[in-house]
Amino acid sequence: MCGIIATVGRNRAIPVLLEGLHRLEYRGYDSAGLAVLDGGRLVLHRKVGRVRELEAQVPAEQPGTVGIAHTRWATHGGVTEANAHPHLDTTGRIAVVHNGIIENMSALRARLEGEGVRFRSETDSEILAHLIGRYYFAEDGSETAGRPVAAVRAALRVVRGTWGIAALFADHPELIVAARNGSPLVIGLGEGQSYLASDSHALVPYTRRVVFLDDGEVARIDASGVQTWHSDGAQVDNAIETLEEVWGDGDKGRYPHLMLKEIHEQPEALSRCLSGRVVSETGTARLGGLDLSPRDLARISRVGLLGCGTAYHACRVGAQLIEAATRVPAKAEIASEFRHRNPVVDPDALFFAVSQSGETADTLGAVKEIQIKGGEVMGVVNVVGSSIARACGRGVYIHSGPEMSVASTKAFSNMVAALAVFTLMLARQRGLSVHDGRAYIQQLLDVPSRVAAYLDEPGPIDELVSWVTAPTTNMVLFLGRGLSAPVAAEGALKLMEVAYIPCIAYPAGEMKHGPIALLEEGSPVIVIAPRDALQDKTLSNLQECKARGARVALIHTAGDPVGRYADLSIPVPDTHPFFSPLLTVLPLQLLAYRAGLALGRDIDRPRNLAKSVTVE
Ligand code: AGP
Repeated sequence: MCGIIATVGRNRAIPVLLEGLHRLEYRGYDSAGLAVLDGGRLVLHRKVGRVRELEAQVPAEQPGTVGIAHTRWATHGGVTEANAHPHLDTTGRIAVVHNGIIENMSALRARLEGEGVRFRSETDSEILAHLIGRYYFAEDGSETAGRPVAAVRAALRVVRGTWGIAALFADHPELIVAARNGSPLVIGLGEGQSYLASDSHALVPYTRRVVFLDDGEVARIDASGVQTWHSDGAQVDNAIETLEEVWGDGDKGRYPHLMLKEIHEQPEALSRCLSGRVVSETGTARLGGLDLSPRDLARISRVGLLGCGTAYHACRVGAQLIEAATRVPAKAEIASEFRHRNPVVDPDALFFAVSQSGETADTLGAVKEIQIKGGEVMGVVNVVGSSIARACGRGVYIHSGPEMSVASTKAFSNMVAALAVFTLMLARQRGLSVHDGRAYIQQLLDVPSRVAAYLDEPGPIDELVSWVTAPTTNMVLFLGRGLSAPVAAEGALKLMEVAYIPCIAYPAGEMKHGPIALLEEGSPVIVIAPRDALQDKTLSNLQECKARGARVALIHTAGDPVGRYADLSIPVPDTHPFFSPLLTVLPLQLLAYRAGLALGRDIDRPRNLAKSVTVE
């Protein structure tokens, strides 16, 4: 989603801004822009489309050592150059970039228009530029007049919503003002040069010494460092942290797309997630980041798992594992629904906020709701130091490594693996024997090599691609029961987002209560039925589909003769039924990838989507 990069110091700003914008591209965006100060004048460049198109428009030798830049993912107002950031105040001497949403936009816009302000865009963000200008250029004598930090603070006092902002003042070439409320910002400290970004990935080429802004803070950033204040004006003592897990630059390596690379990284990523966390000797698990003693584990009355999209599907798998293996009630819930239903938060429950990016606004909102109500919530997150990880304080890093393709693949697997490790830890405390704990570990540790074996020989995926991309196909139905129901949902989500093919996923038993009406001669149905206790029932549903003329592809355990019931058999390596989602999801990831390819889609950056969804 939207991204911010800014810099101030002794070096030319443009190369830093453009490099930063490129590093933010993976988040998803539809336009980009930047502003630099050149001899006391604000120079603005904005462009709809890719960062490289903006780059082509900016003079190579554009001077200026202070600047702000932005990638926009449209929320208020269409994808136009006028709506791209930065936005200027009426004098053209203040430029602002903004991530987030101004909720009281209508009232503020009407008020400013009433005062004679002429808006140049349809965005909520432009309001910030005008409000800051209004306080900065206030009559002499006003305490905000000519004072950038005070003007920003005053402007934010009348705004409701979420923001991460950077503001540039033509009268102050020595500084940038930043502010955060619900939209992440991190300040990078270099030698005679400082940086600001919405994502630490953009700072990596320059520095690892960083200061994370917290909600409600306003910062003054200059070449020598940063000063920060709370919204009430009290100064904050900034802790300087070191970025430890530094991600590469999204290099595709030998693969044509990041998505395919990340699919193939799963064996290695899974091993990384498990490594050092399962202890064969005692048949249990160690998750130091949770900081839970056996006594703490004994007190857990229930487990709640919250996430969105793919992370929610991983939560559904995790909830089933936890409940089945530990007998502790566990429930997965869509994070974007959670806080809006005024949930009851049991103080003895343990919640997990599951998120690859650690920045998903809905999941972060759920974390806050739990904390307000006195609940315990921990992160299951990929990005170290992300907002959710920091808000939770405790948790499990899933260690997928960088996932830059918008379609999540290896993060799903590692979320499931991390939750499987937690399941073992809780199960051992709840009575699982050391013998059974060891068997669980053995099966879990075998998964990465089985994933690798499948990816080496994925089976007849291309035939399935020809079914789902056929001009006669107007919908694909995915079915599974138990642990395979969330896998079906994940397969459908993946095919929709990468190939733009309408898909429906249903727990197989529910199919006859409605979706069966959609089936006609040749309708493609993908059934997930590994060898488990529910397989027979799922196969009955498969027959019901076939009886209505559907073409059925069956994802099943290798060596299981059930493949003969389907029109297309896709075997995956055997594993313990608990871990089957880590195998059965693989053909579905490849299907989405290859179908997207066949249809000429923008695989790594599908239309309308963003990698981290930082608005509600
Ligand atoms: C997955 O392919 C999607 N791009 C999306 O559903 C994603 O999983 C969701 O937005 C949650 O993101 P998070 O894991 O970063 O919180």
